[in-house]
Amino acid sequence: MFIKHILLTVLFVYYTTTTRIGGVAGKSVSDLDDLKYSGAADEANTFILLGITGDLSRKKLMPTLFTLYKEELLPKGIQIVGFGHSKTTVPDLRKQVDPYVHLKDERERQLYDEFWKIVQYFSGDSTKSADYKQVVDALAKIESGKPVANRLIYFALPPNLFADTARALKETVESKTGWTRMVIEKPFGKDSESSDVLSKVLSSLFREDQIYRIDHYLGKEMVQNLLALRFGNRLLEPQWNNRHVANIEVLFKEPFGTQGRGDYFEQYGIIRDVVQNHLLQVLALVTMERPESSDADKIRNEKLYLLQHMKTLVVDDVVLGQYVRNPNGVGEANTSYTDDPKVPKNSTAATYSLVVLHVDNDRWRGVPMFIRSGKATDESRVEIRVQYKPVDEDLFGGQSRPDQTVIRIQPNEAVYQRLNIKRPGMGNDLIQTELDLTYATRFYTAELPDAYEVLLLDVFAGRQTNFVRTDELAEAWRVFTPALHQIDQQKQAPVKYVFGSQSFKEADDLEIKYGLKRDNY
Ligand code: BG6
Repeated sequence: MFIKHILLTVLFVYYTTTTRIGGVAGKSVSDLDDLKYSGAADEANTFILLGITGDLSRKKLMPTLFTLYKEELLPKGIQIVGFGHSKTTVPDLRKQVDPYVHLKDERERQLYDEFWKIVQYFSGDSTKSADYKQVVDALAKIESGKPVANRLIYFALPPNLFADTARALKETVESKTGWTRMVIEKPFGKDSESSDVLSKVLSSLFREDQIYRIDHYLGKEMVQNLLALRFGNRLLEPQWNNRHVANIEVLFKEPFGTQGRGDYFEQYGIIRDVVQNHLLQVLALVTMERPESSDADKIRNEKLYLLQHMKTLVVDDVVLGQYVRNPNGVGEANTSYTDDPKVPKNSTAATYSLVVLHVDNDRWRGVPMFIRSGKATDESRVEIRVQYKPVDEDLFGGQSRPDQTVIRIQPNEAVYQRLNIKRPGMGNDLIQTELDLTYATRFYTAELPDAYEVLLLDVFAGRQTNFVRTDELAEAWRVFTPALHQIDQQKQAPVKYVFGSQSFKEADDLEIKYGLKRDNY
């Protein structure tokens, strides 16, 4: 009887403290129906993948398209038209994609065979309208007899081809009877000027509602969760302002180096790679005002307003680092950034940065915001850390430590609240502990969706919330361009840090100068 009682109690606690999420990729079936683009039965839908032979397509886009196909989340009858420079064939393309697709069982193997039957390939130069002749013919066949033809065109191309490709497409591939949407991958320029040139070309050819600038961080579960956490609860929002918050840190660490991308890093460096885009977008969602509604443009208006109030970054608020080999490291960890043959030995490109940003509005004036990002560090971790001010009157002889709200974006998604409590037992000492919402233990069946899956569904459905609008992008470059130009011109040697470091003193010191109380993390 006693044992039965204990068992029932354990089961009760288990079921009331964990939540099941069924269905695909962590969404319930009804959610998926809402997310999916169904369209009318007699519509033709084509996914035109420019640069299908490249790395991004092979490793990410084709496997993602297969996942969506397998889960029946793509529009019915969808066709994929690939376009690339090299003269290859669909079976050869498939061989390139195979290593990145994991087939669980016989059913998936059959579906994978079926999937490749909807793929066609044509070669040519994406910037020449004449080279799209075969694509246009293929589209005519696919769309024959359908009154509406929708075309999603994905630019998995080097950025120097974007403008000319957009011009060539306008003349040839834009649909006359349905929507045409263009998905563009970063980098969107290197500074304000180059980004504006590209934006002007795109805007002269296509409307804003046709342009989808993808920032895959906006498709991550915990980034999408920010709106719910902030505006779906009463708890956090009244505290998130300069009366209560001491500082905010967006932290990004990766345990690997530039992995052969030295030539790209020489041109872009870590600030242009992840800070000016992914991490700034995250910070904007953490700090923007409440949007009037969840409408895409209302949300993007608030991000824009926030960025407009962000002060231009100054170089005194920047610390840069470059990794050097760890003599005890294995493989890449035993190499320096400058060991990449495409990198000059005296390179000043940064693989690590700490920048301090300031928002000059009533809510955030006086609250430093840190974005710390590093390759070749000790671990993989992306987090938002909101550190609160100390209590006004400390009853506990200085024992209370700053509270913190931490939202871990990856890996091991979590939200936790660091709080001071009385040490359990006799006495009144304080200790700091956590209210912990770790997704893996709470949502035990959840398989969180991949960012690209979420974002591709958004493009089909015409949801632009998670894509960067032209004016937002211009503001993001306005914040970073002067400091980046100064850094590019001065070519000062970045601080050298050893591959696998948690951090380094110069970066820590700047945060401490701005009042961050460092805990052990
Ligand atoms: C890319 C950067 O945009 O984002 C890479 O070019 C970086 O350098 C990557 O590694 C990080 O994305 P994720 O989703 O792996 O955190």
